[in-house]
Amino acid sequence: MMLELIKNFLKIIPGMKWLAKKSGFVSEPIDERLFLFEYFDKSSVGAEIGVWEGDFSLKILNIVSPSKLYLIDPWKFEGSSIYKDAGYGRKFSKGQNSMDKRFNKVRKLFKKSIDNGTVIILRGNSASELEKIENNSLDWVYIDANHLYEFVKEDLENSFIKVKTNGYIIGDDYFEGGWWQGGVKKAVDEFLTNKKVELIKIDKRQYVLKKISN
Ligand SMILES: C[S@@+](CC[C@H](N)C(=O)[O-])C[C@H]1O[C@@H](n2cnc3c(N)ncnc32)[C@H](O)[C@@H]1O
Repeated sequence: MMLELIKNFLKIIPGMKWLAKKSGFVSEPIDERLFLFEYFDKSSVGAEIGVWEGDFSLKILNIVSPSKLYLIDPWKFEGSSIYKDAGYGRKFSKGQNSMDKRFNKVRKLFKKSIDNGTVIILRGNSASELEKIENNSLDWVYIDANHLYEFVKEDLENSFIKVKTNGYIIGDDYFEGGWWQGGVKKAVDEFLTNKKVELIKIDKRQYVLKKISN
């Protein structure tokens, strides 16, 4: 009880959160999505759509060790009320400046891998940036971008074109609700009825689809 109180107290003092983490006194919560890495082979070529500050991207890079990793995100602040509860909306971001800072943070974080050609940052909306990648060339795509139904639908369709046969289309936040009002679940359920994909797994709000044929 006392230990928890001290930990929580440390987290709210500016600078102390960082120090507490560094010292190992407060640990990062374990990312429940790590089980997904069983679908990401070593030396694979993949894309993460929706990067934010690159936390998951870094795990992919360090644990999976892909030969090429595309990181796609516009890092664009959305001021309209639909996005008020999104990370890139009014509640959590203070305008475009904070998104630019996030983009620069990611560029810095991956500098070495950008320089050696392993990481390729594509700044822009997934619909246009995915077009820059060759069709049937990716082993997997991880979709975690705009969660509204129309956007997820488009990301699924475009990812299908980019992924190889037997490749994986994986994504986050498959559940009813959220500020996106279940848009991810709706798009995935619909996609499963129309496309040449097989549902492999749904667990921890993650969906794993396998492309069966073109
Ligand atoms: C939930 S965050 C991504 C979190 C990240 N995958 C992680 O696990 O650390 C969603 C991200 O999607 C991005 N995004 C929003 N609209 C997008 C779009 N049309 N195309 C690509 N990314 C988009 C936002 O800028 C934001 O950084």
